[in-house]
Amino acid sequence: MFDDPQSPAWIPLLEAAWAARDHAHAPYSNFQVGAALLTTDGGVFGGCNVENAAYPVCLCAERGALSAAVAAGLQPGGLVAAVVVTDVAELTPPCGACRQALVEFAGQLPVLLANRHIRQLHRLENLLPHSFTGGHFR
Ligand code: THU
Repeated sequence: MFDDPQSPAWIPLLEAAWAARDHAHAPYSNFQVGAALLTTDGGVFGGCNVENAAYPVCLCAERGALSAAVAAGLQPGGLVAAVVVTDVAELTPPCGACRQALVEFAGQLPVLLANRHIRQLHRLENLLPHSFTGGHFR
């Protein structure tokens, strides 16, 4: 299902990501990003990037979606799939900080990148190999 980038299973996630992107606050980069996460209990959580005049305060769409999912009860291991959408030709992969944030909740996770025309499927364990987790110091 989520190992096929063309599977219809992605549609609710894509819709949520595009809808969230409509609300992006990106007046500095003018680069609007949407993300969505599916949780094991069927929840779909969207997020958009939220920029700030103090640039380091900017929040990526993926971490916005993750915060919404956690606030609704997401626990580690509870992520099923992720989507990132942008309206540019070159697909946008999650930044390093977002990869690390996602690894906390899903070591293995299909991550679909999409624009209006194409989809590309990755896996989080390949986007962030040899990741640092709580297991390294517990
Ligand atoms: N951005 C995201 O929201 N997600 C990504 O995966 C990459 C970058 C945002 C952060 C900033 O608001 C804008 O894109 C330009 O870096």
